[in-house]
Amino acid sequence: MNTKDYLPLIESTLVSIFEGKEPYNLYEPIRYVLSIGGKRLRPTFALMACDLFGGKVNDAVYPACALEVYHNFTLLHDDIMDNADMRRGKPTVHKKWNENTAILSGDVMLSQAYEVMCRAEHSLLPSLLSVFNQTTIEVCEGQQYDMDFESRNDVTADEYIAMIRLKTAVLLAASLKIGAICAKASSKDADLIYEFGINVGLAFQLKDDWLDVYGDVKKFGKKIGGDICCNKKTYLLITALEKSSGDTKKSLTEWISKESFDRDEKVKAVTAIYNSLNIGKIAEEKMNSYYQKALESLNQLSLSADKKEVLKSIAESLLYRED
Ligand code: IPE
Ligand code: IPE
Ligand code: MG
Ligand code: MG
Ligand code: MG
Repeated sequence: MNTKDYLPLIESTLVSIFEGKEPYNLYEPIRYVLSIGGKRLRPTFALMACDLFGGKVNDAVYPACALEVYHNFTLLHDDIMDNADMRRGKPTVHKKWNENTAILSGDVMLSQAYEVMCRAEHSLLPSLLSVFNQTTIEVCEGQQYDMDFESRNDVTADEYIAMIRLKTAVLLAASLKIGAICAKASSKDADLIYEFGINVGLAFQLKDDWLDVYGDVKKFGKKIGGDICCNKKTYLLITALEKSSGDTKKSLTEWISKESFDRDEKVKAVTAIYNSLNIGKIAEEKMNSYYQKALESLNQLSLSADKKEVLKSIAESLLYRED
């Protein structure tokens, strides 16, 4: 099984959802964000899980695409909240249009995501909607913690992990579980693959935070240093605050408290502090520890060894990703 094989079906379904819709100014930003790239990880996870548990890919295609529409909705609003002007190598919706556009196009994407989810086999809707509802609520909770943490300097690593579990990991985990539900897998397997997804998701967000400092803008598609600029309490910053002392700590806390600064200067200075403390490596080790945890949940699944290998290799590929 090659997970790339799912992409044509995902792309054509996503196009069909918004094709020709009006008003133009509501739907064009959606067609735009869906057309400029994206790894399509969440729908791929859903289709893959459905496939692995013996379901037909077509039975999961609408729930899978609902998850991608929902994910892209969160990106429209997240980019306003994070003041980000680049996504997938292109201007963000609120920059290309304006904030009101990103808010309203985002809102309709959320409703549309539910509408598309409801195109699944009706007997599955109670389970599908219960997972989806819980997930969309938790993502908001995670996003709020993420914002709250910007103005706190005493965030612990455990608080950070709890926050990224909510803002990122639960959606990846739900994507796998939703695929499993579409295949009518046992609830034990659906829960185990969810647990696997949580650990993969934690590793995934740790990598996103790492790429935000050490990535290549051409591949990552987002401006490097976005997290540094808004004092995001990433694992890198939390660890740097914890490990630094003397002049280094003073300099780091000064940069965090500056109200006005030159963007490039701040990113360069904070990155230099990270480098002096070996923070990149420490973050990579943390990421690897969640990958190992993911493998433990994987082992408990009632799937054949070759099917587990598919899940293992996709998780592994996310550790080495550059975008
Ligand atoms: C970006 O998600 C938001 C995070 C949870 C880090 P992705 O890295 O999956 O973004 P796309 O969809 O591939 O652009
Ligand atoms: C993503 O967190 C979480 C959601 C979009 C819900 P980030 O803010 O780190 O994602 P990017 O880096 O902007 O993609
Ligand atoms: Mg954010
Ligand atoms: Mg962001
Ligand atoms: Mg990020």
